Amino acid sequence: MSSIPLQTRLPRTCRISAIKQETEHVRTLTFEISLGARPGQFAMLWIPGVDEKPFSIAYDDGKHCKVTFFTIGALSQALAEKKVGDLVGVRGPFGTFYEWEKGQKLALLAGGYGAAPMYFVAKEAEKDRATLDVIVGARSKEHLLYLKELQSLSNTTLHIATDDGSQGFKGYNVQVLQSLIEEGKSFDQVFACGPEMMLKAVSDLTARHKIPSQLSLERYMKCGYGLCGNCVVDPLGIRLCVEGPVVKNETCRKITEFGKYHRDSVGRKHEF
Ligand SMILES: Cc1cc2nc3c(=O)[nH]c(=O)nc-3n(C[C@H](O)[C@H](O)[C@H](O)COP(=O)(O)OP(=O)(O)OC[C@H]3O[C@@H](n4cnc5c(N)ncnc54)[C@H](O)[C@@H]3O)c2cc1C
Ligand code: FES
Repeated sequence: MSSIPLQTRLPRTCRISAIKQETEHVRTLTFEISLGARPGQFAMLWIPGVDEKPFSIAYDDGKHCKVTFFTIGALSQALAEKKVGDLVGVRGPFGTFYEWEKGQKLALLAGGYGAAPMYFVAKEAEKDRATLDVIVGARSKEHLLYLKELQSLSNTTLHIATDDGSQGFKGYNVQVLQSLIEEGKSFDQVFACGPEMMLKAVSDLTARHKIPSQLSLERYMKCGYGLCGNCVVDPLGIRLCVEGPVVKNETCRKITEFGKYHRDSVGRKHEF
């Protein structure tokens, strides 16, 4: 905790400079501030009197940062009502980030709003001349995110999977990765961000094929910097706001609750 500067731990009031409606329920807010974030890290967004919640940084170019969010409950509804020029409390960046080496062959799997941080990875990895296969998955084509942005990147092959087959492969993005591996395509690393059952499938597949992978795990977070203990996972007791959210697969596989259950704000267990 002490290694995280005070300025990072305290909320800054940040002005919204742009709002993009991505899909019916998903928006991207651009803030007039850089957090100096790396892909995979998150920020805590606070609306006084409503709540404070963690959100993955969707992009940070050193001048602005973005978050992409699904409108689902109190805080995200309140965020969705914000207009350009409004202020939001922002703390961060927090947590671990995806790591790669120059020129590596990477597969990136994105489910739901996980497409946002995966785009941030792809944009940065492009600068390192990485070769990328990005597999974006969603329930149906209306829910696919960041396709245009990903298509604009060099060295990137975009694959699409929808549960109902309305665009791209009919099925899960993990099945697309499995086919690529079985066709003989080799990857130095696989990164994934999305619903936990998708991450579990990526974990099993990459372990079976002995491909290193890094997965972004979500748990209920309150402080975001290791103080409250709300985000610890069984049986390791690691705090996912500090030792995560991006966790190497060898560690994920030691987390017995991974793919089974998570805890809410008061520690009650909920099965996936
Ligand atoms: C590290 C991390 C990064 C995150 N990044 C993002 C992000 O980039 N974009 C984003 O939209 N959200 C992200 N989240 C989730 C976010 O923090 C909130 O949980 C979410 O916005 C809901 O908060 P709320 O107050 O609007 O709804 P709540 O009132 O907390 O939830 C309303 C209902 O939705 C359920 N619910 C909450 N979150 C989810 C979910 N993710 N999927 C399905 N059901 C859910 C709750 O159980 C409850 O029933 C992230 C979470 C973590 C831990
Ligand atoms: S959210 Fe408080 S320790 Fe992780």
